[in-house]
Amino acid sequence: MWLKDRIAIVTGAGTGMGKAIALRYAKEGAHVVVAEIDAASGHQTAAEVSAHDRRGLFIQTDMAKLSDINAMVAKTVETFGQIDILVNNAGVTKSLGFFDVTEADWDWIYSTNAKGLFFCMQAVAREMAKRNQGKVINIASIAGKGFRGTSNIAYAGSKGAVIAMTRIGASQLARYNINVNAICPGATRTSLYERVMKQLTEREGITEAEAVARLDASIPLRRANTPDDIANMAAFLASDEARNITGQSFNVDGGLMWD
Ligand SMILES: NC(=O)c1ccc[n+]([C@@H]2O[C@H](COP(=O)([O-])OP(=O)(O)OC[C@H]3O[C@@H](n4cnc5c(N)ncnc54)[C@H](O)[C@@H]3O)[C@@H](O)[C@H]2O)c1
Repeated sequence: MWLKDRIAIVTGAGTGMGKAIALRYAKEGAHVVVAEIDAASGHQTAAEVSAHDRRGLFIQTDMAKLSDINAMVAKTVETFGQIDILVNNAGVTKSLGFFDVTEADWDWIYSTNAKGLFFCMQAVAREMAKRNQGKVINIASIAGKGFRGTSNIAYAGSKGAVIAMTRIGASQLARYNINVNAICPGATRTSLYERVMKQLTEREGITEAEAVARLDASIPLRRANTPDDIANMAAFLASDEARNITGQSFNVDGGLMWD
């Protein structure tokens, strides 16, 4: 077991890759805080963590609100006494053309993907620094490296911000023995992927089958990720095996992007 008795927070762990990461961490021996805005799915993931004989604790959290983030971190420390791992996974987007992006879209995307991610990293790192150890894993995207198939330009910018903050966070937290890395997923079959594909087909007047075939054909390995592909990398980066890796942003994407 890579993560025996570690305390992990996974944001947005109700569905998708956050859920896959939470369950993989439980299998690796961690207790998991499910910081999720949606109560039904959050409770469900926490219950599935507990079925692995680990403690799963759902804390309803809107990652766009600092007060929620601070309350979630305080509750985690009160319950478990420490935080070893943070996975900043919660993120939002929708399919939009260049001229369609509004101020409301921008604020919606950045409040969770960039602002919430930073303040969660800051609040958790305060706790980690006291114990001189910790692992932070930010879920960015290949969109943040300029992937042309991004859902929209504002989302790509928010994920570029995640990659930059991963590097600066790594450099400024290294003195506290805190590793900060990012995972840049490519196309990953989750509810977000399904929603974006549906919006794309409506905007471009193509069928969903055509949209999926077009995307899969552009992937050198010819397959989109499953959430477990991301969970595998997240388990490794949270483990002692990755102790000397920091500031990096790893693509998991079947070969869509090279840098
Ligand atoms: N699916 C993809 O193809 C893909 C590709 C690259 C990057 N990503 C990134 O991966 C991460 C996870 O995406 P996913 O595909 O699993 O999405 P998803 O929509 O399937 O799951 C996201 C989860 O986050 C929760 N969430 C949303 N806003 C929240 C908020 N403000 N506070 C707390 N929880 C919130 C949702 O309720 C949901 O449970 C996101 O950061 C996303 O940008 C996804």
